[in-house]
Amino acid sequence: MSELNTTALKILENGKGILAADESTGTMTKRLEAVKVPSTPENRLLFRETLFSASSMTGCIGGVILYDETIKQKSTNKYSIPELISKMGSIPGIKVDTGAKVLANSLDEKITEGLDGLRDRLKEYYKLGAKFTKWRGVYNITKEHPSKLAIYSNAHALARYAALVQECNMVPIVEPEVLMDGNHSAHDCFIKTSEVIQKCFEELILHKIDLSGIILKPNMILSGAESKNKIDGKEIAKMTVECLKISVPTEVPGIAFLSGGQSEIEATENLDLINKQNNTNFIMSFSYGRALQQSALKHWSKDINNIEETQKIFNHRARMNTLAAQGKWSKELENK
Ligand code: G3H
Repeated sequence: MSELNTTALKILENGKGILAADESTGTMTKRLEAVKVPSTPENRLLFRETLFSASSMTGCIGGVILYDETIKQKSTNKYSIPELISKMGSIPGIKVDTGAKVLANSLDEKITEGLDGLRDRLKEYYKLGAKFTKWRGVYNITKEHPSKLAIYSNAHALARYAALVQECNMVPIVEPEVLMDGNHSAHDCFIKTSEVIQKCFEELILHKIDLSGIILKPNMILSGAESKNKIDGKEIAKMTVECLKISVPTEVPGIAFLSGGQSEIEATENLDLINKQNNTNFIMSFSYGRALQQSALKHWSKDINNIEETQKIFNHRARMNTLAAQGKWSKELENK
């Protein structure tokens, strides 16, 4: 078993998942302003440190994805943030892409940037304590999209990123996100997501990636947010498992879904149904941003020094998702 494989498995062991706390300063500012908290470096740190020192970090959160600002900050007890996360029994990771930009010659689509200088940035993050990384490619569904150009160029960038990350002894999270926006059907999402993931693996293999040392972070198969033909949770789970079964090589140890705009309960319920139907050898867990943080953030904003109550809310969501990652969740547990 390679060291990278061991790290990937450790992040996702026993129903643990990933806390995606890697919002860029711009995104975090929008989230904080929405709950009327000024977006200062101190407030961004205070909210994040509240989560990172919560008790569920030990049994439910196997890894935390940080943003450049946070990985360099010190916690109130003077540990660096990666040290605090490690002390809580979790593993620090870092988002390393520099964002999705307009794709030349296909202006309604995006290409993720950040390869220039990446080798040196990775060395710095490794020294700061990161053991894994994240890069997100993003695709939208319309009649013409995602185009072959977007599918190929993002897959190529994801593979070049993954190669540099493994060279630096870290586990790359490979995140091709097919967005929920639009009125497409779940069937369209299934077809497009399968094509996107299969192209990613074609490129990852071409770039000689050790597939046992990565984590895939895909979207679930959902109908578009504006679609009138919604499918139920069982159908979502069935299509999601089928898509991954036909698209992901068996060497990959784990899959950690993004929440992508689902509500907290939807994200938990769908993950649970996926695990109740999971007939593959892949671990299927979570790497949620909004679906782990929304309620906690709302509560925290009422009194940013009420750490304990905020942690209780976060602990509950983390525990519910850990149960869902083992197919052991039920609605009744939400109210206990
Ligand atoms: O890249 C996406 C984030 O890491 C996950 O965020 O769960 O809010 O979609 P989300």
